[in-house]
This record gives sequence, structure tokens and C-alpha cells, in this order.
Amino acid sequence: MIGSEHLIELTYLVASALFILSLKWLSSPVTARRGVRAGEIGMALAILGTLLHHGIVDYTAVAIALVLGTAIGIPLGFVHMTAVPQRTALSHAFGALCVTLVGTAEYYLHAPAVPKFTMGVLALEVILGSLTFTGSLMAAGKLQEILPQRPITYKGQNLVNFALLGLAIAIAAILVGNPGLSWLFPLIVILGLIFGVMLIIPIGGADMPTVISLLNSYAGLSAAAMGFVLNSKLLIIAGALDGASGLILSINMSKAMNRSFTNVLFGAFGQEQVKAAGSAEARTAKSASAEEAAALLSAASKVVIVPGYGMAVAQAQHKVRELYDALTRRGVEVVFAIHPVAGRMPGHMNVLLAEADIPYDRLIEMDEINGDFPQTDVALVIGANDVTNPAARNDPSSPIYGMPVLDVDKARTVMVVKRSMNPGFAGIDNPLYYLDQTLMLFGDAKAFTGAIIRELAGGEG
Ligand code: TAP
Repeated sequence: MIGSEHLIELTYLVASALFILSLKWLSSPVTARRGVRAGEIGMALAILGTLLHHGIVDYTAVAIALVLGTAIGIPLGFVHMTAVPQRTALSHAFGALCVTLVGTAEYYLHAPAVPKFTMGVLALEVILGSLTFTGSLMAAGKLQEILPQRPITYKGQNLVNFALLGLAIAIAAILVGNPGLSWLFPLIVILGLIFGVMLIIPIGGADMPTVISLLNSYAGLSAAAMGFVLNSKLLIIAGALDGASGLILSINMSKAMNRSFTNVLFGAFGQEQVKAAGSAEARTAKSASAEEAAALLSAASKVVIVPGYGMAVAQAQHKVRELYDALTRRGVEVVFAIHPVAGRMPGHMNVLLAEADIPYDRLIEMDEINGDFPQTDVALVIGANDVTNPAARNDPSSPIYGMPVLDVDKARTVMVVKRSMNPGFAGIDNPLYYLDQTLMLFGDAKAFTGAIIRELAGGEG
């Protein structure tokens, strides 16, 4: 018969394997749903295994925590897709709080008899956990616009921040030498909490999604450290996976925005550059009606649809699908151009278009589609802005100069669905709108796409 110790180990082993497979499957839209299921089952198994632990003497507190966690978790699962970055930041904050509390409890349970290695890892765990807790709360507040988006900078800021972190590390080193100095322990937690706030203050709203991904990495590393303290292989594996994938994602996001990591963390990108680029010139943009747009689209042989954040806000993906169907029926070749940072989170456009059942093979990545724009009759931009800005290519004074963009300006005709001439996330003007071949289609993405579909249907009848 299999003992409960073995059962726990087996459960953890299967859970770890499922986490690894989950990440692998999540890397392609074709297998992503399977990846989410594998992650969910892995997490359920991990919770089940933990509940079987002999260390639990009374299940009452565990039951209360489970009910509370479920009560908080279920509504978090229903937030609007555009709020997912701040929702993710909140999840990191909860995870980091948990790691900090467990680390603190472990220390006071065993102090002063804490072996040197355990003390070092414990200190790492609580420093990373506490800074991730406040840092993630700050990031969520900035993205939800509860806190000001503007980066707050002052002279010697990096020095102050590094001094805070240095002090926490120095105290941790003293504790490793003498774990009995228990009055020092709360200090490293407090310094970590302050450092988390100070770390996010100089970072502008525009860089928050990248920072959240980095905080994800810190949360993973702190969980891995907790795994060493609790001697849990599952936590070490899950934490390492989380830490590594968060870091890789942050690097990829920085690359797609042509920003270096240090620039994201210390560059205070945001409002200052917005001001610099906000000088509106007296240029005029041409607008067109849904009827004119429908006429141009139906006369085209190749149309590239470029979705962006506005499509997500308007929840226009199903209307976009109807437009795709209507044009395809007329023999027009329609594909979608996917920019890696269109929207507000990695894969945002892929998820929305998949939800509307648009075939995956119609979704073309930026590097592949850019060569096709000169042979494109109509580039139809739906709620995208920064990712189509030619200034990133042509204007060295632009704050987004060097960011890879979709070359929609090379298409024969460009049509842009958006509500106004307002800028996008980077807060800068888009010269695309003033080009000879560009027509602005002013309106909500869902409503305007619907109007084009009606015009096309009217033309058919
Ligand atoms: P944005 O540049 O943010 O532009 C979105 C546009 O959508 C806005 O100009 C807005 O114009 C329009 N819009 C908003 N609501 C709309 C509605 N209901 N109907 C029609 N249009 C609407 O979006 P993008 O081109 O997708 O670029 C993404 C930006 O986010 C980039 O700057 C990127 O660096 C940044 N970012 C993305 C990520 C990830 S991972 N995706 C991470 C960090 C940063 P109106 O107000 O005039 O309608």
C-alpha cells in the first residue's frame, strides 16, 4: 500500500510535470487552452498534496483560508480583459505577501537554531517577498489609475534606492552570522516593503506591464527560496519556472518596445516625454464615412487588418470576425497583422481574435507581414495607434524611435478606426494620420465596424 508521504510526493511530482507542460503548451495559440487546463489541474493537485501534510493539526484555519481565497479569487477571474495586467499584479502581491508571512513564521518558529544556509535563503525570501508585495500593489494602483501614472523622480533617487536594498542585505548578512538577533528580522521586512514602493515610484504608467512581468519573476524567485526553506521540491520547481518565465517575458517586452531593462527601471519613461512630443502641429487629417470605407474595402484584393488596444476596449473582435467573413465571401484576401505589444499584455490580440474564432493561420506576426504592406490595397487599423507610428522608424527625436512597428504607412490606402485624434499609450502624436493615403474613420471600433458590415451587406442586396 502507498503511504501518505509517498502519495504527497507523487502528487507533487505530477503537479510539477503539469506546470512544465502548461508553460510549453501556452507558447502556441493552438495548444494554449490545454496549457491553461494543465496549469489548473497542477495547482489543484499541489493544494491537495499540501492538505495531506502531517504538519496540519487542525483544518479549521485552513478551511477558513480556502473559503477566503476562493471568495477573492473567483471575482478576480471575471475582470475585463483590459484589466488583466493590474489583476496579475494583485495576484503577485497576494503570493508575495504569503511568502513573506511564511518566511517570518518559519524564522520565529526556529530562531535562534536556524542553520546558516536556511537563514540566508529565508532572508532572501522575505526581502524579495516584501518588495514584490508593495511593488505589485503600487503597479496595480498605477495601472488602475488609482495612483498617479506619472513617474516621480528626484536627484540621487537610484542612490537612495540602492542604499535601502544594501541596508536590507547587510542586516540579512548579520542575521546569517547570528540568527539569534531576532529584533533585526522585522527590519529587513520593513526595508523590503519600503524598497518596493520606492522601486515603482520613478516608473511611468507606460512601462508598468513590463515591470509587472519583472515583479512576477521576483515573486517566483521568492517562492523558490521558500521551497528551500520548507524543503519543498514543488515550490522550488514552480518558483523557478515562474522566475525564469517572468524574466524572459520582461526581456521580450522590452525588446518589442526597443527599451533596455535599465531604461525601463531607471529611465522614467512616460509623462516627461509625453510633454516633449505633445506639440500639436496644424496638420489636417482626412476622414471618411462607413459607406466610403466599405466601398474601398470591397474593391480591394488584399486587406490587412491591424488590431490594437481600442479593439479590446470596444470588445469589437466579434464584429471584426463578421467583417472578415463578409470580405472573404467577396473574394478579398484578409489577414491580421499582429504586433508583439499591441494591446496591454503579451498575446492580447491573439487571445481576442481566437475568442472570435478567426483562423490562426490568418494571424501574421510583425516581421512576416511588414514585407507585404507595399502590396496591400487597404491596411485597416482598428484601435491601434503606437504600434503603427512611422515616427518610430523615421524620427530620431521621437520617444519611441527604434521601437519596431507595423509598416502600415506603406499600404496603398490606410484606414484608421478610432474615436478621436487622441494619442495612444505612449502619449505621442501619430504622423500616419496626416499622410495623403490615410483616411480616419472616427467612431467606436465595434460600432464603426458594424456600420461597415451593414454597408457591405447593403451593397450585396
Ligand atoms: P495604443 O497606442 O494604446 O492606442 C490605442 C488607440 O485605441 C488609442 O489611440 C485610442 O484612440 C483607441 N481607442 C480606445 N478606445 C477605443 C474604442 N472604443 N474604439 C476605437 N478606438 C479606441 O494601442 P496599441 O497600438 O495597441 O499599442 C499598445 C501600446 O501599449 C504601445 O505603446 C505599447 O508599447 C504599450 N504596451 C503594451 C504592452 C503589451 S505587452 N501589449 C506592454 C507594455 C506597454 P481614441 O481615444 O481616439 O479612440
